[in-house]
Amino acid sequence: MEAAHLAAWIIARLVRRKPQAVLGLATGTTPLATYAELVRMQQRGEVDLRRIVTFNLDEFVGLDENHRCSFHRYMKTHLFDPIGLPRRQIHIPPALASDVPAACHAYEMSIAAAGGIDLQLLGIGRDGHIGFNEPTSSLASRTRIKTLAASTVMAQQAVFGDDPVPRHVITMGIGTIRDARHCVLVATGTHKADAVARTVEGPVSAMVPASALQHHPQTTIIVDGEAAAKLTLQDYYRSVFANKPDWQKN
Ligand code: PGA
Repeated sequence: MEAAHLAAWIIARLVRRKPQAVLGLATGTTPLATYAELVRMQQRGEVDLRRIVTFNLDEFVGLDENHRCSFHRYMKTHLFDPIGLPRRQIHIPPALASDVPAACHAYEMSIAAAGGIDLQLLGIGRDGHIGFNEPTSSLASRTRIKTLAASTVMAQQAVFGDDPVPRHVITMGIGTIRDARHCVLVATGTHKADAVARTVEGPVSAMVPASALQHHPQTTIIVDGEAAAKLTLQDYYRSVFANKPDWQKN
């Protein structure tokens, strides 16, 4: 099964068991295939996603939900509208708040009020970031404003085209992410191989924010062959996956 489809399968399995599951969602290139597969699964009647509650990882400060580059717009296009998710079940970091710290605190409170995140979907940056938690972000950080590194602004320029890339984002913190009951990180392609190896087999370090997941009690890392290329214990991971007891596979 492809990496993105496996992530969709894990999400669908949770939602079948718990239709009102609270999902933490990610944007970027990697989750596109996962969302497309979830939409297909709903169309085929294999899962009903209309009762889920969602909290997105991050958003650009100053962009409203209709801006073509906002993550809210991305989510509406690729998941929320196709599955018919009611607006009241959707939560996006408060990109337009006038009092940013208060709004970030309120975002944390609404996650808690929803009962916490059951499953957090994650991508990973080449530098090991999760959400917009750039290297050296506190491993205990909570939802807050971040000023983007120049390299991240440059990477985003491809998406923004001629429009200026906002320098500020609101992102869940690494501590927020680590509170999710299950974290599912998907990485594909050669350009992610270093970040994956440092995340899984390197020391836990704020220089590689995703490495904080080593302290998380239930994290699943889904990779394709290219993103796995620099892992030293590949044979071990394959044999563990192949030899899991049946009850763990389903
Ligand atoms: P990508 O982004 O899926 O577009 O590679 C991942 C990330 O930066 O978190």
